[in-house]
Amino acid sequence: MASRDLSADWDPDDFVTDDRISGAVYREPLIFERELRSIFDRYWVYVGHESEVAKPGGYKTTWIGLQPVIFHRAKHGGQLHVFMNRCRHRGTTLCREGTGEVTNFTCPYHGWAYDGSGKLVGVPLKEDYDASTLEQLSLVEAPRVASYHGLVFASLAQDGPSLEEHLGHAKPYLDAITEYGVIVGAGRQQYESGANWKLQLENSVDNYHPRTTHRVFKKLFRDRGDESLGYLQTGDSLDLGNGHGLLAFDEPTNAVSKRHNFNLTVFPNLAFIGVQIRVIRPVSPRNSVVELYPMFLEGESDEERGDILRVHEDMFGPAGFATPDDVDLAMSRVDDGLSAVAGDDWAYVGKGLTKEVIDANGIRRGASMSDETAVRALYREWRRALRVE
Ligand code: FES
Ligand SMILES: [Fe+2]
Repeated sequence: MASRDLSADWDPDDFVTDDRISGAVYREPLIFERELRSIFDRYWVYVGHESEVAKPGGYKTTWIGLQPVIFHRAKHGGQLHVFMNRCRHRGTTLCREGTGEVTNFTCPYHGWAYDGSGKLVGVPLKEDYDASTLEQLSLVEAPRVASYHGLVFASLAQDGPSLEEHLGHAKPYLDAITEYGVIVGAGRQQYESGANWKLQLENSVDNYHPRTTHRVFKKLFRDRGDESLGYLQTGDSLDLGNGHGLLAFDEPTNAVSKRHNFNLTVFPNLAFIGVQIRVIRPVSPRNSVVELYPMFLEGESDEERGDILRVHEDMFGPAGFATPDDVDLAMSRVDDGLSAVAGDDWAYVGKGLTKEVIDANGIRRGASMSDETAVRALYREWRRALRVE
């Protein structure tokens, strides 16, 4: 039985079962710390799309768990790197901006400079240091960096499954998303959820909630004469294994051509929702930042790209019809409610569990699209990851 008083050797199976999740999983600092160690320090974590650093010298700052990193394409040679965003002298972050272009990274504190491969190439008053120590102070790089059709992931673990092994049954869906060539060319929009990072992931493949949470925008769409939101009712909820979840809609989700008709979550903190790449960053047990990146496709006209941005704003913008409701009901109000721990501290995710079918590939398929199969996918892998200490 889940307890609020976690012992040092707590067992993840006491906090998540096949059909329920303890409130502690969204609240407790000890659980959050183990997630950082066992998931974000080990798994493949998405850092960005190659098109975000298309130009030689381009960089993007991001995070792996709570660790700031720089995703960079070297000016000379064009090699992709993921560096820890930390000067080897006394620790200042080298880049503060979200994106930029550099030949060298020069630290603003005392002026140490690193080239595009991370090598320390400039130290003011260098003669006062021991030369052999300076030689060892290149930028620290993520030990493993790999790209899948332009989607770049890094792992802070030296060993482990390859990126393709980890992506597993999510690969055909990533193939579909990237089939026409993806360009992430409109920057990022971001918001704080005021809740644990896993709640935004759950919500991304939860098709049980639109009928209530989003009833206002359904009505507005209908008033506009747009019946396309019929898709909210029919399709499939799948557990693809390795923590990846899928909502596959029977009908296209919007009028934009060449777009996939599914929502996909890639463990641990990446999602593909319609025209958008979504990254969910843990910040603390009870807060997270959600980054949204509209996706363009190669060869689209400016007008088509404008349409993509309008679709994106319509659903996900600060005045959009989906995100504000989700942030309020699926995240911050869940976080509020989870403070009520007297009596029953479980959240229930058993919808459709007894009707699930497992196919020959081990993919679990719910009986209805509103089943919580894709949500349970996240927690199957979560338990597996956290059991290994
Ligand atoms: S901390 Fe970067 S040069 Fe001193
Ligand atoms: Fe929603």
